Amino acid sequence: MMNRYKSVPVTLLFLFFATAAVLAQSNSGETTFRSNCAMCHGIDGSGNTPAGEHFGAPDFRGVKVKGLTDVQIKQVIADGRKTMPAYGKRLSADQIKELVQYIRELQK
Ligand code: HEC
Repeated sequence: MMNRYKSVPVTLLFLFFATAAVLAQSNSGETTFRSNCAMCHGIDGSGNTPAGEHFGAPDFRGVKVKGLTDVQIKQVIADGRKTMPAYGKRLSADQIKELVQYIRELQK
């Protein structure tokens, strides 16, 4: 009998963390972008940051990046490009896919 009651707080704790994980996931493209890309590309994708100007980061909303296919964008993120670092080893395929979706949101 005692054991049944003891498990209630554990269940509540589990639900709490499960909910937090789902909430974090719904926005993960943006979160990944903010922590890995925004220092160069800017949170709006404009490239208007000191590092972005120094390295020559393009505006995601410009014709060139808009014209790239999802596959091409994934490749750039995974393999890097000139002064842009490669993320293929640091980010999962799912995270890279979410980044592409996030970039498409910025381009709207
Ligand atoms: C150190 C600065 C820096 C960081 C950090 C960075 N980039 Fe870049 N990115 C650049 C530069 C510079 C270019 C332009 C490269 C070139 O000259 O072709 C670029 C280009 C791009 C392009 C356009 C590629 C093309 O073919 O025109 C995409 C898309 C992109 N970056 C996405 C990302 C994403 C997503 C991240 C985070 C995972 C990221 N970048 C992190 C500097 C950076």
